[in-house]
This record gives sequence, structure tokens and C-alpha cells, in this order.
Amino acid sequence: MNKKILSIIGFMLSGLGAFATTPVYLDESQPLEDRVEDALSRMTLREKINIIHAQSKFSAPGVPRLGIAEIWCTDGPMGVRPEVLWDEWEQAGWTNDSCTAFPSLTALAATWNPDMALLYGKSIGEEARFRNKSVLLGPGINVYRTPLNGRNFEYMGEDPYLISRMVVPYVQGVQSNGVAACVKHFALNNNEINRHTSNPIVDDRTLYEIYLPGFKAAATEGDAWSFMGGYNLFRGEHASYNPILMNQILKGEWDWDGTVISDWGAVHDTKTAVTGGLDMEFGSWTDGLSNGASNAYDNYFFANPYLEGIQNGTYSEDELNDKVRRVLRLTFRTAMNKNRPYGSMGSDEHIQAARQIGEEGVVLLKNDNNLLPIDTNKHKKIAVIGENAIKKMTVGGGSSSLKARYELTPLEGIKNRFGNEAEIVYARGYVGDPSGEYNGVSTGQDLTDNRSPEELTAEAIQVAKDADIVLFIGGLNKSNHQDAEDSDRETMALPYGQDELIMELSKANPNLVVVNISGTGVAMPWVNSVPSILQGWYLGSETGNALASVLAGDANPSGKLPYTYYASLDQVGAHKLGEYPGHKSIDALGNEVMDMPYNEGIYVGYRFIDKNKLKPTFPFGHGLSYTTFAYGDATSPKIFAKGDDKIEVLVPVTNTGDRKGKETVQLYVRDVKSSVDRPVKELKRFKKVELNPGETKDVSFELDRDALSYFDADKHEWVMEPGEFEILIGSSSSDIRSKTKFKAE
Ligand code: GLC
Repeated sequence: MNKKILSIIGFMLSGLGAFATTPVYLDESQPLEDRVEDALSRMTLREKINIIHAQSKFSAPGVPRLGIAEIWCTDGPMGVRPEVLWDEWEQAGWTNDSCTAFPSLTALAATWNPDMALLYGKSIGEEARFRNKSVLLGPGINVYRTPLNGRNFEYMGEDPYLISRMVVPYVQGVQSNGVAACVKHFALNNNEINRHTSNPIVDDRTLYEIYLPGFKAAATEGDAWSFMGGYNLFRGEHASYNPILMNQILKGEWDWDGTVISDWGAVHDTKTAVTGGLDMEFGSWTDGLSNGASNAYDNYFFANPYLEGIQNGTYSEDELNDKVRRVLRLTFRTAMNKNRPYGSMGSDEHIQAARQIGEEGVVLLKNDNNLLPIDTNKHKKIAVIGENAIKKMTVGGGSSSLKARYELTPLEGIKNRFGNEAEIVYARGYVGDPSGEYNGVSTGQDLTDNRSPEELTAEAIQVAKDADIVLFIGGLNKSNHQDAEDSDRETMALPYGQDELIMELSKANPNLVVVNISGTGVAMPWVNSVPSILQGWYLGSETGNALASVLAGDANPSGKLPYTYYASLDQVGAHKLGEYPGHKSIDALGNEVMDMPYNEGIYVGYRFIDKNKLKPTFPFGHGLSYTTFAYGDATSPKIFAKGDDKIEVLVPVTNTGDRKGKETVQLYVRDVKSSVDRPVKELKRFKKVELNPGETKDVSFELDRDALSYFDADKHEWVMEPGEFEILIGSSSSDIRSKTKFKAE
């Protein structure tokens, strides 16, 4: 073929090539910000408004004209919610959206193992990806300020450092699937009572030392792609568009480029939402398809009202463009990220992950006379008593409710594990909540039992008397005013007469184990009458297997409490100094709010316990093992010299028992002399180490000056005051095994 023809063909191909050039925003090889700017430049004003608010209960429309994908969100922090109807909370009745239910986040926190958090995030992210979701509405990391908070089970405990070390790998794990984590509820959503009107009044030092660190770590270390604002207010403005939280701190001080999503129905007007740092509006209690207007979603505050405000000059398009950039960034990181994996659902890996996390999260609170683990050579007849031995817990509790592929109950797990070695007899003991339905999902159980409390008690006592060991499996459930969204508990006491029953059982048989299934702390008036106590949490699909594995000693328990087990509310700063739940007030707009001064300040959890020299039922960081550990002398240089940016602390830890086990070595810092009031000690490092019998490991910690600092609100910065610091190495916050000191310059 002669050259002339070839050149003509070449020219034509290059021309075709010009038409075939992929626009920058669609070209994955282009830098993210270039894709964002290119897409933004092509969008109309209407398209910019559409992309920043919902089109259905859990989705936003993208830009169909440009092929910019929709954003689909899904709850929740412990499993992927079943598909719901277009604009309903009710499930849609799909047959392929049953998920793996993972343990509650307090159980994850109780592992004190960041590797478990990474495994958790990766696994749940794979299920969200498989369901083709772009945003997983979790993790929740609000601080455990009061044991009454209905959603403590969805969060990671009372200590900002523990929260910050566990949230980062969770976020990274989720996002490794090209699914955005949506860290919630930013910030100060520490109670469910009055959650739409609570107005926490918190000083800056408390805010920065207690309530922000987890969120800061998620944003700046975990690189979370989205945050969810809370329903509550803060200093008089709604958290979901609070200029201090969203503009000054999250997008300003932390230089965060992600997307702020409102909680569902958390937006109350356009102007403050526009200027307060919100980027996407979801769930304003509207029926998107039938509530009068042709499409009620156009009535969202970020819909027509915002469009009209731009058109009449009330709002600048610059503000809108920043919101649109953040939504486009979220879209290109997720739905339009061709490199993301395909995910998986209900895999053996996820089942194994749920079980492993559950086994590591169970906390052995007490084990007198080494009653546990169960030895079927001695314990030939096992009595299992209590409603929580048979009640499925993955359904209910609010937005974290799931349609699990399966959920193995404690009794089923115990039968699986011990059924061939011992006789297992079950008695209900009490009737609590026989229901099991939420948003159209049912557990399929019928727990109706019309016997009288007297009959139930008598049966339980008899069964206990006849057994070699008694496992009482009770606690709370996901009903209102227990571990549930949108209501707080009204007391720390166990419901349904369980306290009395436990005392009766302790008289019927001294070999009594109490397994408390709950996501928050409960009062234990019977604690001295029960030789063995386990905090069993909500462990999801693998509940029965994880619990049975610990009861049998197949898994050596290594969990530690992520919050203080108070004996009463008198030991809780939020209640003793308060306020909780606050007092009525009228805000600047004339609305009735519940002002809630956090008078306890930084003295939350063990910080309050230490300051007031109190003795809780069980301290923060407490957890036993079936083996024992000895700590050697902690050592460190005597000077943390000016020129050094860190100092090392070493402590030898030995497994002095006869079985392999894991121990979480906790490092607390005490500023011996400071110009401001500081807690007696604060958790600043921890390490979980596995040791074979007789094995010793030198556990090493590195401390920088941040670990020695407090937040100076006047200077608005963290300050380390030179002087003497004491390092306390503990097996819990109150079981200090070794100390060392140094002078920091
Ligand atoms: C709820 C919750 C939030 C959840 C959202 C969507 O009200 O506060 O955690 O993700 O609405 O269900």
C-alpha cells in the first residue's frame, strides 16, 4: 500500500482518535483533582444542586448526563443493612442481601487489637462492595460518657486513645475496597435521649482532649472519605453543619478533603447548612415519591431552596462548588473507581473473621477458683439458663439492625461444642422481650412463654441444683431503653428481675457463671456471689461459637474492658457533676433545646474514678486470662532530652501459666507536677502480646512529646510542660504492675 494512502489513513485515525479521547473526569489515569475540576466545569447549576442531596432514602443521583455515578449509602457499623424500599426504612424483601453479622463495636474495641480492627473493616467493606455500595455508614465512635447511652454498643468505649488506635485500621480496611467509611456521629452525640435537641456545652480543652481525638485520627490518619454529622447541637448550632466542628476543625485545622454527610433528617434549614460545612443532605423525613409534590426530594433544604438562593444571590456558587467537589471526590474514590475489588458476601473468611473478633473481644471479668474453662470430665451436666441464651440479637436496636445469613445463639453454640461430652439442660429463667422484628426483618423465633415468673424461677432453680455447672446467660437486648438507638436506658440495673434470679441461682449452685450479653455497662449487685463472670457483648452471626470457644478454653480470653464498669451512676462524672440529660432552654432561633453542660470536663471514665478515688465494679482495661502474666521492672532513660523526639520505655512480660495467652500491656502517663489540673493518669500506649507458657517478651513503647501534653485552650495548642513524668504500666487502669520515671526537657 503506497505511502499516500497510508498517510491518509493515519490522518483519519488521528481524527477518530480526537473524537475517542476520554474526557479527563472519566479517565482513571488522571489525577483525582483534575478529574474533579473537569467534571465540575461541565456541570449545570441544577446538576450541582442535584448531586448534593438524596434522591431516595439511601442514594444521591450523580449526574446521569455526564455518566457520573449515583452514590449509594448503607448502614451500618456491624454489618450491611438489607436493601430498603426506595424511600422507606422497611426492607425491600430481596433474597440476596443477607449479610454476615459482625460483633458490636464495643466488642471490637475490647480486643484492644488494631489487627482485628483492620480485619473487621476489610471484611465488612467487602460485603458493602459486593452490594455495590459507595458509603458504609460507620464506624460510630462517640465517647462512652454515660452507661445509659442507648448506642454505646455501636461505639468504641470511653478512652480517646483506644478509640483512635482502633478506628484508623477499621477505616483503612473498609476503604481498601473502594467503599467510603462514614465516621459518625461527629461530634458529641453521646446520648440518645433528646438526640435531636441535646446541646452539649463543652469547653475547648475537654473537646480536644476527649471528644475529638478519635475523629481526628479517623480523618488525618485513617483518611476517612466521609463523616456523618450528628443530630445534636454544639454550642447552639446543629452538629451536622456546625461551623466550629465542620469548618474550623475538620476542614480547617485537620485540612480534610472528604464529604460531610448529614445524619438522616438532621438538616433544619438551608442557610446554616450551606455556611456550616455540610456537603450532602440525606433523609429529611420526606416521602420522596408521594408526599404531595411531584418529587418531594426537591423540597430538601439542599434542593430547590438552595437553588433559588443561588439564583437570587443569597448564596455564592463558590460555596456550592466546594460541596460539589467533595461529592465528586467521593464518587471518583468509590463508584467510579474501576480499580476497586469486587468484594464478597457471607464468605468463610468473613465467618472466621466474625468468630475470631468475637473470641478476642469477650472479657473474662472474674474467674474465682478457675471455675472456667468448662471441664466436661468434672462438669458432666451443664445447666444453661436465661433468655439471652436463645434470643437472636442481630435484629433490632435501630439503624444497625441486620438481616443476617444466620445467627448462632449461645445455647446452639454450647450444644455444638459440648453436646457430645456433657448433658445440657436449658431453662428460660425469665421472659424479657419475646419479639424479634425490625423494619420487616424477623428473627423467625417465637419466644413466647406464658408461664409465670414464679414457675420460670422454680424451673431454673431446679435445673441449676441438678447440674455440675450453671451458665446464666442474660443481660440486655435491642429493645427500647436498652441497647437501642433513639432511647437511653433509664437505669443501670438489669431488667426482668435478673438480679434476683442470679442471687437465687448462686444459692442453688456455687458453680455459677454469668455471661452478660450487652453493649454497655450494667449494675452487678451480685458480683460477690458469682465466681465467674464474662462480658459477652453482641457477637453477631458467630455468637454461639465464639462464646462456647471461650467457655471451653479453645480460645483463651484476652479481651479488656473499653469502658469502666461502674457500680452506680454516682461513679459517673456525667451524672455526678453532670449534666445529663440536661435542662430545657431556648436557643437563638427561639427553639426549645436541652442544654447539657459537660461539667465533668475531661474527667470521663477512669479519669473520674482516679480523681475521686472510687472503686468501680470492674476498671477500664480490665480483663483476665486462663493463664497469668508477670511484669518485670519498667525502664526508660532518666532524661527525655531536648534534642530527642521520643523516649523508649521497656517492660518485660512473662506468661507464668500453663497455656498460651495474649496480654494487653497498657501504658499510662502521669504528669507529676503541672500548672493545670490533669488526670491522675491517661492511657497513651498499649500493646497486645501473645506469649507461650514460660515465655518472656520485652515490650517496647515509644513516647513523643504529644503523649505527655495537655490541650491548652488559651493557646489553642497541645503543650508539654517540662518536668517529671511517671509511666505506669498496667494490666488494667487499676492493676498497675510496674512504674518508671523520667524528666522531660
Ligand atoms: C440514623 C442514625 C445513623 C444512621 C442513619 C441512617 O438516624 O443516627 O447512625 O446511619 O440514620 O439510617
